[in-house]
Amino acid sequence: MTASNTEVDLSEPHMRGMLASVGLDVEYVRGVGDILFYRTDNGIEVPVLDLVGGYGCLVFGHNHPALVEKARQLLADQVPIHAQFSFHPYANSLAIELNSVIQRELKVEEPYTALFGNSGAEAVEIAMKHAELDRGTRISDLQAHVVEAWRAAENLAPFIGSDVYDRLGLPNSAGFDQVARTVQRANEVSLSRGPVFLALEGGFHGKLAGSVQMTHNPGYRTPFSRLATQARFIAIKPGAVQAALAAERMEVILPEIIDGALRLTGMAVPRIAGFFVEPIQGEGGIKVLDPDFADEIRSAADAGGFPVIVDEIQSGMGRTGKFFAAAHIGLIGDYILLAKGIGGGIAKSSVAMIRSSRYNGQFELLHSSTFAKDAFSVNLGLSVVRMLEANGGGAYAQAEERGAALRAEFESVRAQYPDVVSDVRGLGLMLGFELKDLSNSADPILSQNAAQGIIGYVFAGYLLREYGVRIFPTASNPHTLRAEPSINLSDSAIAQVGEALRGLCVLLRKGDGAALLTG
Ligand code: F0G
Repeated sequence: MTASNTEVDLSEPHMRGMLASVGLDVEYVRGVGDILFYRTDNGIEVPVLDLVGGYGCLVFGHNHPALVEKARQLLADQVPIHAQFSFHPYANSLAIELNSVIQRELKVEEPYTALFGNSGAEAVEIAMKHAELDRGTRISDLQAHVVEAWRAAENLAPFIGSDVYDRLGLPNSAGFDQVARTVQRANEVSLSRGPVFLALEGGFHGKLAGSVQMTHNPGYRTPFSRLATQARFIAIKPGAVQAALAAERMEVILPEIIDGALRLTGMAVPRIAGFFVEPIQGEGGIKVLDPDFADEIRSAADAGGFPVIVDEIQSGMGRTGKFFAAAHIGLIGDYILLAKGIGGGIAKSSVAMIRSSRYNGQFELLHSSTFAKDAFSVNLGLSVVRMLEANGGGAYAQAEERGAALRAEFESVRAQYPDVVSDVRGLGLMLGFELKDLSNSADPILSQNAAQGIIGYVFAGYLLREYGVRIFPTASNPHTLRAEPSINLSDSAIAQVGEALRGLCVLLRKGDGAALLTG
C-alpha cells in the first residue's frame, strides 16, 4: 500500500485531528537551544520559542553542541552501544557522580545503588518491583517469626481462656493445635495480601500498566485499573498520611503467654510497599510540595518501615536551581528516580537510585531490559551530570537566575491582568502560569473548551500562531501553562513570552474565545 504522507495517517491518526483543531499540527524540522523551526510551503524556516522543552527533558536546550559532539564522538568511536551482560564501568561512573550530588544536596552519606531503565515510567516500575521484592522479604521474615512464636508457645502448654476461644470462634474444647491452626490460617490470609502503594492526589508517575496506577488522574488510570496494583491516593493536607496508614494497617496474630495463659497480640504486616512523591508536581500543575507535609511523609515511612520513592523524573537534573528539587524542601528519598533530562535531550534513559540499606541485589537477576544501561545513553547522562556540576554548579545558579527572570515576567503579566491570571508558581525553570477557570465564562467557546479540559491547548494554539511561542498546559490541570525552557533562555525570549501572554490576557479579559481560535 502506498499513500502520500498527508492523505492517510497511520500513526495516532486521531491525535492529528486534535492537534489540527487547536492549531498545533506543526511539523518541526530543526531544534536549537530554546528554538524550534518549522518550514513554510516556500521552504522558509520559521522560529518558534519552545517553553515545552520536551516536557522537561531539555535542561540544556535542543541539540546542545557539547552533547551533540559527545553523541557524535560515541558513534565515531564505535562504542558498543549494546553489550548486555558485560561490565559497564561508565554506568558505575554515572552512579558515583549521582551519589556525590546526593551527598552534597541531600546530606545522605549512605550510598545509593543505581538501576538503569529507558523511560520515566520504567524507572517508576523498577521502583515498584524492587519495593515489592523488599516487602516480600520483610513478609517472609515476619512469617518465619510468627511460625516460630507459635511453636515456642506450644512448648509452654499455656492455659487457653474463653477470651481466646471467643475471638477465634472456637469451642472451649479446642486444643492448642486447633487454636494455632486457626490463627495461622488467618495470618496466612493477611500475609498474602497484595501491596499497597501510597501516592499523592495530583501526582503523575507515568502511563505504563503499573505506573499509571500511581498516577492520580482518573482519566488515565481507571480504564486500566484491572491490570495492576492500585495506589491509595492521599490528599495533601495535615494528618492525611496518618489516616491512610491507620486505614491500611493489617496485623498478624502472635501468641503471648502471661501468667501461664495464652493471650493473642497483633504485629503489623508490611502492607505498604512504598510512597511515591514528586517534590514538585509537574503534570499535576507545578505544585511545590509543602516541606511540613514532606516531613510527615518521611516520618510515616520511618515509623512504618516502607520506602519513600521520590520521583524527580521531571523536577530533577538541575532545572529548579538545585540538582534535586527535593533538596529545596528537605525531602530525603529511599529511592530517587531520574529520567527526562538525564538523556541530554538526545538519548532515552532513566535511573532508579536505591539507598544501599534497602537495596536487594537479587533484583539484578530478576529485572532487566534489552536497551537499559546502554553505552550511548549512559555516557550522555554522564556528560549531562558533569556539565551541570562544572564550574562549581554554575548551571544551577543559571537555572535559578533565568527562572527568577521568567517568573518576574509572569508576575508582571499577572499584576497587569489580575482578573485573568490566578497564580504563578514553581521553582527555578519549572514554572506554572495559571489562568482563572473559564468554565463559567459567558463566551461559549471559552466555557465549553474549559469544561472539556482542553482550554489550555486552545491557549497554546493561539500563542503559537500569533506569537510563535510554544507553551502547553499541564494535562491534569488545563488552566495552568507550564514553562520548562533551558537554562540558556535569553532575555529577548522572556520578553517574547511576556508579550504573548499579555496578548492572551487581553482576549480573555474581553471574553473573546473566537479570536483565540481564528486570530
Ligand atoms: N514521573 C513524572 C514526575 C513525570 O513527569 C513523568 C512524565 C513520568 C514519571 C513518566 O515518564 O513519560 O518518560 O514515561 N511526564 C510527562 C509530562 C509525560 O507531561 O510531564 P515517561
